[in-house]
Amino acid sequence: MLIEKNVPLEPCNSFRIVAKAHRLVRIASQADIENLVADPEWAGQAKFVLGGGSNIVLTGDIKPLVLKVEIMGRRLVEETAKSFILEAGAGENWHGLVNWTLQQGYPGLENMALIPGTVGAAPVQNIGAYGVELQDRFDSLDAVDLQTGKPFTLNAAQCAFGYRDSVFKHASSSLGLAGRALITRVRFALPRPWKAVLGYADIEKRIAESGVAVPTAMQIYQWVCEIRRAKLPDPALIGNAGSFFKNPTVTPEQCADIIARDPKIVYYHLADGSIKLAAGWLIDACGWRGKSVGHAGVYEKQALVLVNRGGASGGEVMTLAKAIQTSVYERFGILLEPEPVVV
Ligand code: EPU
Repeated sequence: MLIEKNVPLEPCNSFRIVAKAHRLVRIASQADIENLVADPEWAGQAKFVLGGGSNIVLTGDIKPLVLKVEIMGRRLVEETAKSFILEAGAGENWHGLVNWTLQQGYPGLENMALIPGTVGAAPVQNIGAYGVELQDRFDSLDAVDLQTGKPFTLNAAQCAFGYRDSVFKHASSSLGLAGRALITRVRFALPRPWKAVLGYADIEKRIAESGVAVPTAMQIYQWVCEIRRAKLPDPALIGNAGSFFKNPTVTPEQCADIIARDPKIVYYHLADGSIKLAAGWLIDACGWRGKSVGHAGVYEKQALVLVNRGGASGGEVMTLAKAIQTSVYERFGILLEPEPVVV
């Protein structure tokens, strides 16, 4: 097993923060990870799983052994009356998978086009966009326990998906699997017959503008790509980790209190009676859009996205994030929760 030393991580994180992995090993198969855990030299050592690096803020070099997941492959597993079951290796690029499924005639992932990152990271975050979350298209996943080296499979209930949340984000002290598992393969169930998921303001606007009353999956895919390109920075050009904060949930009373002071606030009613506020709006209302602290900044077209203006350290990004949290808290009494994992 080749252990690389002092590996630059700048190309491996979408924020393009400069940091190093003291030691890094590439995991290209399930056997690779099983062998590594079985190796007495590495068995008891701390490990850090790195996927596409699109949801992390690196605040320094990584001392635990970095496991860079590069397990590839995409295939149709089964075609039932109710769904297409597809499987992809954890190292596959997410957008590449979305594109491939549509080319192959398996629609269902189009609303989640262009989300940066890998297939293996998608369930960790329960990624979502334009009315569809990963959990809506999830079948099961395979993973390997980093302590025992044993493979296991989880269904959707066992993944405990929530809004940008899963069992993989929670510490083992609370029965979670954070830092304990390496996802090797993910299976998706794409419902048949396919049905467009519309209703999101940006998509409805496209429908109205284009006059296309019944869009195809490919049409939605193209719209989602255009919408994202217009308001989200391309990580290949500007370092970022997508939305930096989760949209907070409040009670109707809290929301009414804010509306009384700020009638323009953007909010959505949730099925359980609570209300979700647009964090981007809250940050924008505090005057942060387009501002910078050091080399870290708030994206001009979407205040929920923090960007690396060139040479930003993880510390600078977190200083900016904390300043935003403080001003949103002082004005609205709401503590924004960061979405990326701070390493
Ligand atoms: N808004 C502002 N100012 C801003 C940004 C947003 O007023 O600077 C307002 C917008 O006008 C809009 C509302 O806030 O009325 C919501 O904005 P948007 O539709 O862009 O969506 P979002 O809530 O900011 C969420 C997800 C995105 C996902 C989009 C579309 C989270 C944390 N973010 O963003 O996910 O692409 O909806 O579904 O839930 C990600 O997680 O990395 C991500 C990009």
